[in-house]
Amino acid sequence: MHVIRVVVKHQDHSYDINIKPGIFKKWRELVVECARGGKILSLVDRNLMDIPAFQEECGSAHSPGLLMVTPGEARKNLAQYSELCEAALGQGLDRNSLLVAVGGGVTGDLAGFLAATLLRGLRLVQIPTTLLAQVDSSVGGKTGVNSAAGKNLVGAFHQPEQVIIDPTLLLTLPDREFLAGLAEVVKTGVLAGPELFNQLRHNQDGISRRDPEVLAQVIRDCCHFKAEVVMADERETGKRAMLNLGHTFGHALETLAGFNGSVLHGEAVAVGTRLAVDFSRQQGGIAPEAAQAIRDCLQAFGLPDRISRLGTGPFKPDWQELFQGKGLEEALGHDKKVGRQGLTLVIPKGIGEWEIQAGVALARVAEHLRNSLAAE
Ligand code: GLY
Repeated sequence: MHVIRVVVKHQDHSYDINIKPGIFKKWRELVVECARGGKILSLVDRNLMDIPAFQEECGSAHSPGLLMVTPGEARKNLAQYSELCEAALGQGLDRNSLLVAVGGGVTGDLAGFLAATLLRGLRLVQIPTTLLAQVDSSVGGKTGVNSAAGKNLVGAFHQPEQVIIDPTLLLTLPDREFLAGLAEVVKTGVLAGPELFNQLRHNQDGISRRDPEVLAQVIRDCCHFKAEVVMADERETGKRAMLNLGHTFGHALETLAGFNGSVLHGEAVAVGTRLAVDFSRQQGGIAPEAAQAIRDCLQAFGLPDRISRLGTGPFKPDWQELFQGKGLEEALGHDKKVGRQGLTLVIPKGIGEWEIQAGVALARVAEHLRNSLAAE
């Protein structure tokens, strides 16, 4: 088992991230131990109930002590948060109760925000079941929901008591979801430096085959890196902002697409990372070889790296049309990191090198997006 300890100052708190193929079979035992006699309420991604392995472990959707969460960015909203609050309070929770999030990023963010706010704060265990949640969103205590004004605009920092990660759960993940999670893995490799970045390329076959042992190592390395960043800057007053590489571009694309399932968060981050690399390259901020290595890595894993290739299904966005008018500027303006002076962008300068540029004019970023689409 890989164990990573996270120590955070604000809440004078520490917790373990436990990573092991097969550990999910012991989830009840681990959670009961963590609850120390408190009542346990599990918030479970509704889609997991169609998978026999989860049914076996969790029971039916109506089992006592379980609440179903409807996944999807469109339902990571105040309406579902409010429904879950009432349902959770209806189960007779007290300050000693423990919430357990079993699911992907949406379930983890919603359950985390419930834990942060119900009865002014309950303990939380994160059991992420998607790659994106296992390498990123379950670690570091960011919780929250989207608002009509933009993504993740209502939320709180609330660190878990424990994170339990089983890479074998990824074997049941739809291909598209798995791939979307790889975008955060590549992003982490770009930020962490040559050692992790080269490991990703070296282990590309095992990762793509979802070999649980290979994935356990990759997840360990990504969580280790994220834990270091969170321990240095829990509240994102400085270096934690680097984790937003590709996210400002990505959030704008996701917002324009309309949270209807046509574009997944990770897919938008993959294209956003490519856009950030090109933005940096145009300023002479990154050497051509490093920029090419990042583009090659995105392509090697089969991630979308162009705006025109982003999106699928009946709601596939028409980017040419969406980029006309002021919608693009509005979508960029809804980013949490927008200030009076402009946007804050993470600019890759090399593998393991980055710079945070504040006050980048929104019009300049919009122009980069429009030029990139025109050049594709
Ligand atoms: N996902 C970015 C962060 O946790 O800061």
